[in-house]
Amino acid sequence: MKKHNYSAGPCILPQEVFDKSAQAILNFNESGLSILEISHRSKDFVSIMDEARSLALELLGLEGKGYQALFLAGGASLEFLMVPYNLMKEGGKAAYLDTGTWASGAIKEAKFFGETVTVASSKDQNYNNIPKGYTVPADADYFHCTSNNTIFGTQMKDFPSVDMPVVCDMSSDIFSRVLDFTKFDIIYAGAQKNMGPAGTTLVIVKEEILGKSGRTIPSILDYEKHIKAESMYNTPPVFPVYASLLTLQWLKKLGGVAAVEKLNNAKAALLYAEIDRNPLFKGAAAIEDRSNMNATFLLNDAAHTDTFDTMWKAAGISGIPGHRSVGGYRASMYNAMPIESVQVLVDVMKALENKV
Ligand SMILES: Cc1ncc(COP(=O)(O)O)c(C=O)c1O
Repeated sequence: MKKHNYSAGPCILPQEVFDKSAQAILNFNESGLSILEISHRSKDFVSIMDEARSLALELLGLEGKGYQALFLAGGASLEFLMVPYNLMKEGGKAAYLDTGTWASGAIKEAKFFGETVTVASSKDQNYNNIPKGYTVPADADYFHCTSNNTIFGTQMKDFPSVDMPVVCDMSSDIFSRVLDFTKFDIIYAGAQKNMGPAGTTLVIVKEEILGKSGRTIPSILDYEKHIKAESMYNTPPVFPVYASLLTLQWLKKLGGVAAVEKLNNAKAALLYAEIDRNPLFKGAAAIEDRSNMNATFLLNDAAHTDTFDTMWKAAGISGIPGHRSVGGYRASMYNAMPIESVQVLVDVMKALENKV
């Protein structure tokens, strides 16, 4: 039986992506070759890369606006260091908003390059909210934030207006909601939530901000080199890029980001309504900052843990235990998750209430 997969990433992808990926591994486009054995310089793969790059920009409304899309290796974590390498001037400074484990991971790397100002942090509240009302130093080379905090289940609803490049780690909510993406100068996202399997990172860069740091950048970490090579500076992660393209094509067919946002809002509303209604549960994140992608919640009485765990497992649910830094449960409802799966979880929560 196919599970209701609530994993935080790698995670659920559309079934047609699994089917088409499987077929391409066996016989890619009736070529008699597997996608895993074709050259990344072949016409077939170059056209996959080109389409993936332009479709990513199209879905975010960034085509023809001075942006380039890259599919890199190294994970979102490598961007924690590529960003300061490319943007922080020698002797300059960068401003970071600390909203969770990944945001603080990005801060840690930036500190290798120069002064790194944490403009605000919710660490003291175990990151259960997004700080507000902070000031970003006007002389920073860039401002960095994390749009969705996968572990803690919070999501930024507003982004500050600042007069400097804005960099955003959108690993866990890219392509899930409509934003004015032109407000960002660099957007990066590990593929393994809303875009594809693990192994590639989408990096969207506004070209005009590059080449100003005055640093000597190792080639493999230099966005300009990757742009010049059309995301083929070295052998790209061929299969993750192909599977990402299939997911982006699926999203376009569905109606794009605006269409999936409606579905995501409905899924999140359904689950949060039950968390708030059911006397056995409570949400972990501040209500106004709740994430539509990762809902974190706890049992009010830990004595019900074994019963609840047995019940959701029996219902075919997988991947909801919470991250160790929050405990409880985390239901990740990425783009590919159908609302029917959310209903199954809600039904189990109601059944627990009736049982205990
Ligand atoms: C928001 C966010 N940023 C960064 C990362 C790290 O990504 P990677 O494992 O691709 O380096 C994750 C991983 O889950 C994440 O959720």
